[in-house]
Amino acid sequence: MKTLSTVAAMQAVAREQRAAGHRVGFVPTMGFLHEGHLSLMQLAREHADVVVASVFVNPTQFGPNEDLDQYPRNMARDLELCASSGVDYLFCPSAEEVYTPDCSVYVDEDVLSTGLCGASRSGHFRGVLTVVAKLFNMVMPDVAVFGQKDAQQAALIQRMVRDLNFPIEIVVSPIVREPDGLAMSSRNTYLSVDERAQALWLHRVLKQAALQASEGADGSAVLLSDMRALLAHEAPSLDVEYIEIVDAVSLVPVESAVSGVLIAIAAKVGKTRLIDNVIL
Ligand code: PAJ
Repeated sequence: MKTLSTVAAMQAVAREQRAAGHRVGFVPTMGFLHEGHLSLMQLAREHADVVVASVFVNPTQFGPNEDLDQYPRNMARDLELCASSGVDYLFCPSAEEVYTPDCSVYVDEDVLSTGLCGASRSGHFRGVLTVVAKLFNMVMPDVAVFGQKDAQQAALIQRMVRDLNFPIEIVVSPIVREPDGLAMSSRNTYLSVDERAQALWLHRVLKQAALQASEGADGSAVLLSDMRALLAHEAPSLDVEYIEIVDAVSLVPVESAVSGVLIAIAAKVGKTRLIDNVIL
């Protein structure tokens, strides 16, 4: 595996690989890698001849009161994990390399980004879409892999690729969980033992709702109130930011939780904000 840190070097490799007729697969990350990230790299390998991963903690997607400075980092470990997951090129640019000090062009989305996480994280998806568009221009992939864990992010990237005509195929990969069901996340490292036990209820209430829906009780209002009641009873210290039942593509709330619908939840456990979801 080769490590690259400049845009010029990354674009040179991208051009070389494309000229050789190789299909380039790309997995963008913010590092502190876990098996969720590695599953995307393995899937990228199935869709491409050459796999590029990036590690870049993107400052523009963090709000002023968010955890940019505390965001966990371990470059040495990330390098090893990428190398053992079949990554050919690891791109890890500095913030100065990615953003010119007077940059003034951003990618904004007006509809899908307003609800769910976008409602409380103002500017977050502008930062995500801008950096992903920039990374696409640096890596020039044929295919890029994103995780279902960040369902709204995946929907927004698919919308950006469609609306801005990026010639890139987007593949969305299933959520990888700990054996007890907790969705893997770099932020899980913040959780105390007690907080982790509470955090498990995110997945448990999603599973309950999915089961109820599969048994025919598919009215969204009932499912949502049952989920809230279970959380209030079992995990009272979880501070629920939203629970929503939405169309998986348009992210518009739906009245019936039928097949293909997305149930998404965000909650704070102590100071840590966690998200999880299930597609029926
Ligand atoms: P990060 O949180 O590091 O996640 C990188 C990719 O890994 C995303 O596509 C995310 O959905 C996926 N992922 C995270 N946890 C997962 C899990 N448990 N199972 C499956 N996939 C998982 O998402 C970002 O970084 C950034 O916003 C980024 C797209 C890199 C732009 O800065």
